[in-house]
Amino acid sequence: MGDIILQTQGLTKEFRGFVAVNDVALSVKRGHIHALIGPNGAGKTTCFNLLTKFLAPTRGKIHFNGVDITGDRPAQIARRGIIRSFQISAVFPHLTVLENVRIGLQRPTGLSFHFWRSERCLDQLNERARQLLDQVDLGEFADTITGSLPYGRKRALEIATTLAMDPELMLLDEPTQGMGHEDVDRVTQLIKRVSEGRTVLMVEHNMSVISKIADEITVLARGSVLAEGDYASVSRNPLVMEAYMGTTQGELEGAHA
Ligand SMILES: Nc1ncnc2c1ncn2[C@@H]1O[C@H](COP(=O)(O)OP(=O)(O)OP(=O)(O)O)[C@@H](O)[C@H]1O
Ligand SMILES: [Mg+2]
Repeated sequence: MGDIILQTQGLTKEFRGFVAVNDVALSVKRGHIHALIGPNGAGKTTCFNLLTKFLAPTRGKIHFNGVDITGDRPAQIARRGIIRSFQISAVFPHLTVLENVRIGLQRPTGLSFHFWRSERCLDQLNERARQLLDQVDLGEFADTITGSLPYGRKRALEIATTLAMDPELMLLDEPTQGMGHEDVDRVTQLIKRVSEGRTVLMVEHNMSVISKIADEITVLARGSVLAEGDYASVSRNPLVMEAYMGTTQGELEGAHA
């Protein structure tokens, strides 16, 4: 096990004969920010669904910390410390920002619900929730109704509620999607900050984000691994450029700016 926190072998997912993920060998190093990139339809989200057991693989193995987790149920995966960021739809719009993080802390896979239920500990719960909000620069929004937060801040809250579950491996699917420049920069720095002491596996289309924070990149195309390496090697790889041609070529070019 050692350095490698997550490893897949021959990971494959077929949908009625269509191979969405094809024989993928993924190796994620402990402490890394590992990016999964590739053109639309490459199989990135399907990969995430396989890792979190939202989908069962057709073939292949998944090891986490050296343990075969291929047969685990989603709840077991979460208990092991693999947490996928909750979508915005999973936060409660009518509650305050602080309340949403507290709920995250009270999830079964977070700190023990019964522990927090005792009066004595409610203060600690609030304190921990505020720490998490500070970590994602949402301290000043603690008492804001979540539904009225600007979009980029909602995504930051999503990261805070994920952090509340103290993930060892955090999976982020397009954390900067739909954001303006300023929010993208803030969330990029935020991911870098919260990755300390954890491992992050993220799907990201924005190559500028990847060039700034990814330690390792795996490029998927049509379900298969096309290339792997750091940003410098992957971005110059002719196979990668070709895969992006005509689809999201602009994103690769944009990264050089
Ligand atoms: N439940 C499903 N049934 C059938 N086909 C599916 C299913 N889920 C995904 N696919 C197909 O598998 C392929 C990979 O889809 P996936 O969503 O994993 O791609 P992606 O890399 O996340 O793309 P994007 O960048 O657009 O998010 C696509 O062709 C998609 O249509
Ligand atoms: Mg996707």
